[in-house]
Amino acid sequence: MVIENKISKNIYLIGFMGAGKTSVGKILAKKLRRKFCDLDEIIESECGKTVSRIFSEHGEDFFRDLESMKLRSVSKNSGQIVATGGGVVLRQVNWEVMERAGITVYLKTSPDVVWNRIKNDTSRPLLQVEKPFEKVNELLSKRIPLYEKADLIIETENQNGMAEQRRFFFGLVEHGIKAPVIIKRNYSDTPFDEVRLYASTDLGALLVDGFGDGVWITVEDLKTNESSKNIYIKSFINQNESEQKIINRLLFGILQATRTRISKTEYIACPSCGRTLFDLQETTEMIRKRTEHLKGVKIAVMGCIVNGPGEMADADYGYVGSGVDKITLYRGKEIIKRNIPSSGAVDALIELIKEDGNWLNYPQIE
Ligand code: S3P
Repeated sequence: MVIENKISKNIYLIGFMGAGKTSVGKILAKKLRRKFCDLDEIIESECGKTVSRIFSEHGEDFFRDLESMKLRSVSKNSGQIVATGGGVVLRQVNWEVMERAGITVYLKTSPDVVWNRIKNDTSRPLLQVEKPFEKVNELLSKRIPLYEKADLIIETENQNGMAEQRRFFFGLVEHGIKAPVIIKRNYSDTPFDEVRLYASTDLGALLVDGFGDGVWITVEDLKTNESSKNIYIKSFINQNESEQKIINRLLFGILQATRTRISKTEYIACPSCGRTLFDLQETTEMIRKRTEHLKGVKIAVMGCIVNGPGEMADADYGYVGSGVDKITLYRGKEIIKRNIPSSGAVDALIELIKEDGNWLNYPQIE
C-alpha cells in the first residue's frame, strides 16, 4: 500500500528496446513539468563512448555495473521522469533502488512492433547477431516477467470514478496486461467521515471484484465533521495519531473488508434490536480497542442469541448478550462461560483468547 509522499517520487519507465521509453518520457516530463533523464544518455556522455562501444570494448557486465551505478546516483534526486535501458530490470539491486525512490511504469510492446522499430538500428549491441528477430523473442520471453513487476497507478477525477476505473481494468484484462495496479483517489475538502464512506465504496467496489493490487488515497487536511455523533468515527481520530496513520488504518480496513489483505481482527456484530440489552456500538468499540491487533481472529459481538448462532457461525469467539448485564462467551459454537457479569466480560474474553494461544501483546499494524 502506498501513502502519498509529500516529495514527489521518480517515475521510472521500463520496457524492451524500442518500447518508446525516451520518447514517452520526454512527453510525460513536459506534461508533468518534471525533469527528464535518460540513463543510457547519461552513461554515454559521462563515458564519452556510445553504449555499443562500451559493450564491445568492455563487455556487458561492465555496462551493467555502470548502469546500476548511474541508476543509484540519478535516484538520489526526486521528482524526475527516468527513461531506463531495456536491461535495467535484470538486476535485483536496480529494482530496490527504483522501488525506494519512485514507481516503475512498464511500456509494453509486442515483438513485432519492437522489430519494426529497431530492425535498421545498429546502436543496440545485443541485437547485432545473426538472427536478431529470434534474439528479440528470446530476450523478451526472459524479461516479460520482470517488466510485469512494474506498478501501474490509476487515478481519476471523474465524478463516476469507480465506473471509469472499472472500465480501465476491463481494458487491461482484454489486452492481457497483468501489471500490478494501485488504485488511487484524491479526497480534498472532504470531512473524514465522508472520506471513509467514499474510499470504501470507490476502492472497495473494485477490490471485491478482484481488481487492484494496492490502494492509495490522498487527503488534504484531514478533518472530522463537527456534527458527527458516530463514536466509531470519533475513535478513529485519535489525538496522538498522525494523519498518515489514520489513513493507513482506513486503508487496511478496506483491504480487510474486501478480503484483499487480512491484517487485523475481524468483527461480526448483529444490527442490534429491542432484545439487545447493552450498547452494541460502544461494546464493540471497547472490544475492538483491546483486540484489533489479533490478525486473522474473528470475534462476534451479538446482542442476543436469537441471531447469534447463524450470524456468528464461523467466528472464533462469541460475546453474546444473555440478560441484563449478562454475557455468554463462546469458543466457536461452544458455550464456555454462561451469564457472566458484563463488567468483567471483555477481560474474560481476552483470557479465553490467551488460553487458546491466540493472543499477541504487540499491535502489528503500523
Ligand atoms: C539494453 C537496452 C538499451 C541499452 C543497452 C542494453 C538491453 O537501451 O541500455 O543496449 O539490455 O535491453 P534501450 O532499451 O533504450 O534501447
